[in-house]
Amino acid sequence: MSNVSSLLSIPFHRAAIGDEEVAAVSEVLRSGWLTMGTRTQEFERRFARYVGAPDAIAVSSGTAALHLALDAIGLRPGEEVLLPTTTFTATAEAVIYLGGRPVLVDVEPNAMNIDVEDAARRITPRTRAILAVHLAGLPCDLDALQRLASNYGLRVVEDAAHALPSSYGSRTIGSISEFTAFSFYATKTLTTGEGGMVTTANAQAAERMRMMRLHGISRDSWKRYHADGSWRYEVMEAGYKYNFTDLQAAIGLVQLQKCDAMREARRRIAEQYTLGLQDLEEVELPATPPDRESSWHLFILRLHLDKLEIDRDQFIEELKRRGVGCSVHFIPLHLHAFYQREFGCGAGDFPRAEAEYRRCISLPIFPTMREDEIERVLQAVIGTVRMTAKPVPAPRYAAR
Ligand SMILES: Cc1ncc(COP(=O)(O)O)c(C=O)c1O
Repeated sequence: MSNVSSLLSIPFHRAAIGDEEVAAVSEVLRSGWLTMGTRTQEFERRFARYVGAPDAIAVSSGTAALHLALDAIGLRPGEEVLLPTTTFTATAEAVIYLGGRPVLVDVEPNAMNIDVEDAARRITPRTRAILAVHLAGLPCDLDALQRLASNYGLRVVEDAAHALPSSYGSRTIGSISEFTAFSFYATKTLTTGEGGMVTTANAQAAERMRMMRLHGISRDSWKRYHADGSWRYEVMEAGYKYNFTDLQAAIGLVQLQKCDAMREARRRIAEQYTLGLQDLEEVELPATPPDRESSWHLFILRLHLDKLEIDRDQFIEELKRRGVGCSVHFIPLHLHAFYQREFGCGAGDFPRAEAEYRRCISLPIFPTMREDEIERVLQAVIGTVRMTAKPVPAPRYAAR
């Protein structure tokens, strides 16, 4: 092991999995029913209640959740979906699965969420939907997006992969738009290893998503083998193999009970970071508008590069040398080879997203972080800033 990696003692993320999750999984293993069944149904019911949604459909990933939501709105080949360039590729990929065209939009300067005015400028007669990503867990300006959507007859799908639990005004994310997609990937705020969920108030769409997540078959597999089920089933569509499993549900049910406490733990870390770094002129801290509450999935620090001798990449290297693992969310989609090749976009197309990308760093923020780890992250950031800050020019006094 090199010196640097042996020093890397604070990972970017460590999943909060305890004995309760292990016991719950063991119970499912012993039950003899491993795939989608009654525990998945219970997880769906409890998840729906938790976010205040009428219905929730559990699936194999957040990407599958986005795909099924876009399928449910009937997205057709050639139709366009507006989405921010600052997101993970899954957001746009789901559009492409259905032959749609992701139309990238620049981000607003404060939260790095989709810029509603830029979105409005990119609407064409082919635009069908808006994919609203709540970056880091901070909700987008949903009122403005809903207004835009209703003015142009567009559907809204929220990509809430980062936003469990987050709220906008008095409403919890998952209970607001027609469709909301969540991810339970290993680093997310509720994890089942892999997994996802769509919440919706649209009963017809929920029925279709339940069918499409399991090969387009008219009845879920558990019913086929259950006492009140039958061996008979019918294939209605060419669906997908996107079902959840009871093993995942067992973990999810335990994680859901801890979800509020885990958010509170992250909120406290965010508060400590804010208090510890607020006096540094060289960094900008995340701001939360008063009408929103973030899940604090990520804590994104932005550097004032003009006040530092080093760039973002060097800053991350220095934090790594000091034993702190960091990440970057996200490399804007228009800077990736695939989007450049397929959609003709390129560097310079989305100036705000690029400027923010060049200066952003995601610090570790996870519920099992110890006080000494939080303190070490703070000292690493402060130490790096002090070591690399540009000297402040001496004040010039007017000649007397
Ligand atoms: C913004 C965003 N959307 C969608 C996804 C896809 O989720 P999953 O990995 O569960 O498919 C992710 C995953 O990292 C994400 O960050």
